[in-house]
Amino acid sequence: MSTEYQVLSNADEISRSAADEFVRRAEAAVCDRGAFTVALAGGTTPKSMYSLLAGDAYVKKVPWDKISFFWGDERHVPPSHADSNYRMAYEAMLKKVPVRPESIYRIMTEDTDAAAVAQAYEHTLRTHFSLTEGDLPEFDLVLLGMGPDGHTASLFPGTGALDEKTKLVAANWVEKFHSYRVTMTVPVLNNADCVIFMVSGAEKTPALEAVLQGDAPPKKYPAKFIRPVRGKLVWLLDRAAYPGDPARLVSSAASD
Ligand code: 6PG
Repeated sequence: MSTEYQVLSNADEISRSAADEFVRRAEAAVCDRGAFTVALAGGTTPKSMYSLLAGDAYVKKVPWDKISFFWGDERHVPPSHADSNYRMAYEAMLKKVPVRPESIYRIMTEDTDAAAVAQAYEHTLRTHFSLTEGDLPEFDLVLLGMGPDGHTASLFPGTGALDEKTKLVAANWVEKFHSYRVTMTVPVLNNADCVIFMVSGAEKTPALEAVLQGDAPPKKYPAKFIRPVRGKLVWLLDRAAYPGDPARLVSSAASD
């Protein structure tokens, strides 16, 4: 695993840096094998990156017809719901660009049985990536955010999905929301060629410190579980989230 840290001025710079990396990796993957697979993040931080990619400055740089879009996680709400990660990405980007509709693989959360939703998405992954038992999908790019509690995707502190080592997708009960979330599991996220965290805002500072520099257990700060086995880990941080000395964040080659 190699790790790169970028401490940027603000959320807009995070979006631009993430969009640049997205384009670079999409171009490389399409050149290499004619396709690019990405797992999108939910929440609010990535929304401006999605809008940027669909905007004049980037839209013509992206090989939209060669990209397959997945979601790292989803709330257990219908796709039309205001909290839907699918809806956020669709409104901000996907409805504005020439992506093939059949290449948009949303998590089908209209099914009220969260376990069935997770099972169905796992089947979608196994089919798309032609996986045999025990295989993991290898995403070209996984986009992630991090909550103030150190969660990422829908891997929340102290929840059952943190221990999931064989399933690709889990239905994860989150007590504080009194609801299920559906999330890709740690082994899937760590099998990506590149994982980009986008972390903005002072409310993230304590958790970010614990994830990047503390010795707190990953179960308390699940973003600590994300360590790509072979791939590159990129932390895009703004000064509000990381007010510390950037020199303390030593980017590393494949050593660690
Ligand atoms: C979600 C996301 C979640 C998000 C973090 C950070 O479904 O909400 O998958 O993991 O990335 O909560 O969200 P913000 O970027 O909005 O702070």
